[in-house]
Parts: sequence; C-alpha cells; structure tokens
Amino acid sequence: MRVLTLAGSPHYPSRSTALLSRAGQWLENQGIEVLPWHINNLPHEDLFTARFDSPALATFTSQLASADGLIIATPIYKASFTGVLKTLLDLLGERALEHKVVLPLATAGSLAHMLAVDYSLKPVLCALKAQEILHSVFAEDSQISIDAHSTLFSSALEKRLLTALENFTEALSRHHHPNTLMRQTA
Ligand SMILES: Cc1cc2nc3c(=O)[nH]c(=O)nc-3n(C[C@H](O)[C@H](O)[C@H](O)COP(=O)(O)O)c2cc1C
Repeated sequence: MRVLTLAGSPHYPSRSTALLSRAGQWLENQGIEVLPWHINNLPHEDLFTARFDSPALATFTSQLASADGLIIATPIYKASFTGVLKTLLDLLGERALEHKVVLPLATAGSLAHMLAVDYSLKPVLCALKAQEILHSVFAEDSQISIDAHSTLFSSALEKRLLTALENFTEALSRHHHPNTLMRQTA
C-alpha cells in the first residue's frame, strides 16, 4: 500500500508538518510506502498563476494517482485551511481523490476552530471525490512543542493520532482489496 502525505503549512518549523511527519513514520513502520510532499515542493509561481501544465504538478498528480490514501495536514488560518494549500487543490482534476481514503490533520492556536476542517477542508475533499474521509486529528498549539531540533507531542495527542492512523490503515485495507484484484486481472 502507498500513501501520499501533503503538508500545507508555508512555515518551517511547523507543528502541522511535524504531526504529519510523525504519521508518516508510523505508516512506514507498518510497512506502508509513504510519498512525502510539502506545499513548498511546488513552485510558488505555478501555484499562484494556476499553471495546470506545471511539470511539478504533473509529478504530484501522478504520485497521488498511484496512492491508496492521502494524509493532508494544515494549520488553521483565519478559521480555514491555508490559502496556499487551496492553490494546489484548485489545480487537481475533479476526480483526483476518487478511490482514496483521506485523513486530515490540523493544528491551531485555539480550540475555538476545531471544526474548521469539517466546514472548510472536507467539502473540498468531497468535491475531489474522496472515497472515504476520516475524522480529522486536531491539535492545539499547546499540545506540540517544537523548535529547530526537536518536537514533543502531548500524550493525549499521540493517542488520538495513533487511533486515527489505525482507523486509516483499516480503511486502506478495506478499499485496497478490490484495486489489487483489478490490477491482478488487468
Ligand atoms: C496567518 C495566520 C492565521 C491564523 N489563524 C488562526 C485562526 O483563525 N484560528 C486559530 O486557532 N489559529 C490561527 N493561527 C494559528 C495557527 O493555526 C497555529 O499556530 C498552527 O499550529 C500553525 O501551524 P504550523 O506551525 O504548521 O504553521 C493562525 C496563524 C497564522 C500565521
């Protein structure tokens, strides 16, 4: 199985990217191939000018097409996901997430915006025809301490992330079998 991870924070170091990296490490320990992407891997000019023929975008979309699942991480900016992440999602084909299981991760300064993923990001993932969108993992900044050298997660957050990843891999297994059979018979 293969999972693409997409970090949507423009900043470094980044709490949401650290959470995503932790998720990626866990998946790799389970024997799942991880294709790590960061929004900064795509040229900003391609994103801001909506360059649909961008070579970097072509690489991204072909890797996304080859993946069984997507984990997408974003900080909450102005009660929504980041604008720079939207510039990439806008460039994807309308069925880009068909047959894929998606797990959103979000970090924010305040618990007040814990539903932001549900009302802002999930509708976009639905529009891209995601097969199954799992409950997101939301973390307040106080649950992640980070500097250039190390990252520490609160134990409550570690637990929520682990539960979400177990649900994610279960969902991947459920959706993976038909594809495997289709590939074998093709
Ligand atoms: C431009 C900007 C807008 C933000 N807007 C919100 C917000 O509306 N609600 C909130 O709870 N936190 C908000 N924050 C705080 C970030 O969501 C929070 O610090 C997040 O963990 C940063 O993630 P990152 O380290 O991955 O970039 C904002 C931060 C920035 C820089």
